[in-house]
Amino acid sequence: MRDLPKIELHLHIEGAAPPALVRDIAAEKHVDLSGIFDDRGAYAYDGFADFLRVYEAATSVLTTPDDYARLTRTICERLAAQGVIYAETFLSPDYCGGGDVEAWRDYLAAIREAAEGVEAQGGPVLRGIVTCIRHLGPERAKPVAICSAETAGDFLTGFGIAGAETVGEPREFRWAFDCAREAGLRLTAHAGEWRGPESVAAVLDDLGVQRVGHGVRAIEDPRLVERLAEKQITLEVCPGSNVALRVYPETRAHPIERLRAAGVPVTVSTDDPPFFHTTMTAEYEALHDAFGWDDDDFREIARTAARAAFCDAETRDRLLKRLDET
Ligand code: ADE
Ligand code: ZN
Repeated sequence: MRDLPKIELHLHIEGAAPPALVRDIAAEKHVDLSGIFDDRGAYAYDGFADFLRVYEAATSVLTTPDDYARLTRTICERLAAQGVIYAETFLSPDYCGGGDVEAWRDYLAAIREAAEGVEAQGGPVLRGIVTCIRHLGPERAKPVAICSAETAGDFLTGFGIAGAETVGEPREFRWAFDCAREAGLRLTAHAGEWRGPESVAAVLDDLGVQRVGHGVRAIEDPRLVERLAEKQITLEVCPGSNVALRVYPETRAHPIERLRAAGVPVTVSTDDPPFFHTTMTAEYEALHDAFGWDDDDFREIARTAARAAFCDAETRDRLLKRLDET
């Protein structure tokens, strides 16, 4: 399964930071981060709110474009080792330059250069999606949207929202999403992870997103499931994340299989892999064990992801061709 070509659409750059790298950077900067690791050196948290706290504490050591370049290289090398040929990563100007456009440009340039360096050596193709952070509120999302609009292009191709879904309402972020849409960015939003189907409907109706991050609790409303299937709204499903954060007790209870059977385009991603002790290969293995998915099912999942990728037509064709060859 490791060798199957994979496409990952939902990966937070800071959430993909290996604890060892975060510890190294913290040590170089004389920052004490011992409170966020367990005695084996893994990230330690209990539940989603605490996960966000640990995530933000780990992120706080990443303070320069060079830190992000280092992180990007590490992530791309790990993706390559999982057979990932294309990935979209969530980037947050709130963490990269505090929402200042000029600082953000430097971070983005560093991330892009690092990604292109790995790609030139046969590594995965990377694209960026700017995310605003829901629990920081709609006013903070405005400069973030401006950062995304100012840097929209062939690398920075999307805009979205992450963070605590339990805080506020999607419609409060309409200005930010309109700004990104007008700049030509494709749109996605985390929804249907910590709230139910109405939360998924709200990001479709109020923000006009083309994809949904998670979206899995749509399963609680059959009419919404029909709508997702009819409109072919792709879900960025992260089963291991949902099990680790206890949205579902185990993979077998996860609705990905039922959503797929209902005709909803589903894809598979890791979200924040070291936090959830997962990899793309581990996700595939868990889905094989839970639902009997085989190579043909995974090929179809990867094709669905290629079709929903926020990339240009030429890159998409290249990905589809590569998937057909294997
Ligand atoms: N940021 C990083 N991972 C996240 C998740 N699973 N949900 C919401 N925000 C996140
Ligand atoms: Zn996420």
